[in-house]
Amino acid sequence: MAETQVWRVDPNAPDLEHTPQIQAAAEKLVQGEIVAFPTETVYGLGGNAKLQDSVRKIYEAKGRPSDNPLIVHVANLEQVREICTEIHPVAQKLIHAFWPGPLTLVLPSRGTVSNAVTAGLSTVAIRMPSHPVARAVISASNLPIAAPSANRSGRPSPTQAEHVFHDLDGRIAGILDGGETGVGVESTVVDCTTTPITILRPGGITKEQLIEVVGPVSDDPGLVRSDQAPKAPGMKYKHYAPSATMYLVPAGESRIRELISSEKAKGRRVGVLTTEEKQGGYPDADVLLVCGRRSEPSTVAHHLFDVLRHFDQKKVDVIFSETFDQKGIGKAVMNRLSKAAGGRILD
Ligand code: TXA
Ligand code: MG
Repeated sequence: MAETQVWRVDPNAPDLEHTPQIQAAAEKLVQGEIVAFPTETVYGLGGNAKLQDSVRKIYEAKGRPSDNPLIVHVANLEQVREICTEIHPVAQKLIHAFWPGPLTLVLPSRGTVSNAVTAGLSTVAIRMPSHPVARAVISASNLPIAAPSANRSGRPSPTQAEHVFHDLDGRIAGILDGGETGVGVESTVVDCTTTPITILRPGGITKEQLIEVVGPVSDDPGLVRSDQAPKAPGMKYKHYAPSATMYLVPAGESRIRELISSEKAKGRRVGVLTTEEKQGGYPDADVLLVCGRRSEPSTVAHHLFDVLRHFDQKKVDVIFSETFDQKGIGKAVMNRLSKAAGGRILD
């Protein structure tokens, strides 16, 4: 494929939609090409959701299994009405409270987006991002934009344009570089076709926030049970994994110190994922990466994927990670960490 263009753009620039960079990226989308752009969660890889050929290019560039449907990104409610058959009162409440923002709603599909987007399901996942660059490029293209995270399938989601470039250079038409993303983990995916609504993937909007607005909320049992498939097809795949084997260590510092010495005794290079508060606790680790502050879990979410990618550059053989409370955004952090560790937890 042709060279991947990089367009630097200042998210705070006035009249972003009419800047040459946004116009150039939107033109590619209109031509059926695929481009990456920042959202408030992670970078997305966008294409025209109505055009089968564009959607196929997304799956190809990512190496994504075709049974894993994509989220359609919109800039206004009129686009939502074109895509789904109904927005019932609970979905309306969620839209009112959390859009634009890191919440994806699974709604009954009208069948107006390509079948490849929904992977043949009767529902469609929709979200209205709040990032100014995402909003500008969707508006400028005047299209519903199908956009999974802009990583090669299985890799940590990208929170910087450099991550996208590393994974997808030469495979996509361009990247809008709007700097680091804010939230750092992906949107919360909520199935609005069940009563009560069901969280299919924990993310940027917490369960506590959802309950405050709509009352009871269930969790997809497939997220925690091994005998039941998750309802969001993407949640069944191995994901986010660094190349070294990673273990979560809930017992914390002193147990991690023991593990470091026994691994080093076997000649292995050991990495530790820690936090500002505890970084002094592992003097013998070969590579120590600090992932935010425990006292502010949003900072852990913000740094998580960048830290996971960094371990690959540091060429460690094994990684031990601290764990976090499953409260608020901590739930999304622990979900991504356990996937990165392939479910490996050490007592
Ligand atoms: O924050 C985000 O959501 C980012 C940014 C780019 O918007 N996007 C993202 O997309 O994380 P992706 O494709 O990496 O994850 C979408 C998840 C997958 O687990 C997929 O299986 C699920 O949403 N999904 C999509 N459509 C669905 C549907 N109709 N029913 C159930 N799950 C669905
Ligand atoms: Mg993804």
